[in-house]
Amino acid sequence: MLDSKKYYNVIAKDYTLISKERINYLNAVDDIIISENKNKKINNYLDIGSGDGRRSLKMINSLNPLNSTLVDDSSKMLEQIKSVKNLTIANNSFFDYKTDRKFDLITCLWNVIGHINSNTLRKQFFQIIEKRLNSGGVFYLDVNNRYNITHYGYSNVMKNLKIDFLSPSDNNGVFHIGEGDKKTKVFIHNPFDLTSYVKNLNLEIQKTWFLDYNTGEIKDTFFEGQLFYKITNK
Ligand SMILES: C[S@@+](CC[C@H](N)C(=O)[O-])C[C@H]1O[C@@H](n2cnc3c(N)ncnc32)[C@H](O)[C@@H]1O
Repeated sequence: MLDSKKYYNVIAKDYTLISKERINYLNAVDDIIISENKNKKINNYLDIGSGDGRRSLKMINSLNPLNSTLVDDSSKMLEQIKSVKNLTIANNSFFDYKTDRKFDLITCLWNVIGHINSNTLRKQFFQIIEKRLNSGGVFYLDVNNRYNITHYGYSNVMKNLKIDFLSPSDNNGVFHIGEGDKKTKVFIHNPFDLTSYVKNLNLEIQKTWFLDYNTGEIKDTFFEGQLFYKITNK
């Protein structure tokens, strides 16, 4: 089993193809962020787990932030980025990335926090976000949802619900992605986890969308989609 950094270094060359398989979903997330922030003045933009930077550059071209920072711990993913003006690229884990800057817009897209290995660390991640989000700033992130019946199927979701109800544990969301010797552990959230991360912080979930993983359509219930959040200061 590879850690996240090795896994993304190994699959970096195939990443464009892999992400094309989910392009409707990814575009739907991007469209919401762009339409909500189109006419805002953004001084500092941060994309955490930017990967190949395709989506970060789309945000930059659409929203024209004055300064942008992309952070990713996989060097091979970052090698694919064509730099643009006023862009800082940091090859770090977000936990090791040091800055005094506050950001008006922060994105963390496509289950990046599913690669953080424990509940304690995921809570720490949100403590850092609290420090780095400017007053009036907005943080968007999406995570895969282990109660998504449309994507994972009824019987898997029933198993997930049963184990969460009967034996709640931080390990209940741990699954694997990849194939053969290219595999890594990934945490798939349930629809209640995010509330526990922001509890006791000066952050609040402003809005949650449930987006179909194939079509990107907005759905009414968490049984029908992946989880996409808009988080702001209280
Ligand atoms: C599924 S990819 C998403 C890439 C990009 N956000 C997108 O939507 O195409 C997950 C990315 O998160 C990065 N990542 C995982 N853990 C990280 C961490 N602790 N700090 C920074 N990047 C991380 C991986 O290297 C990978 O590039």
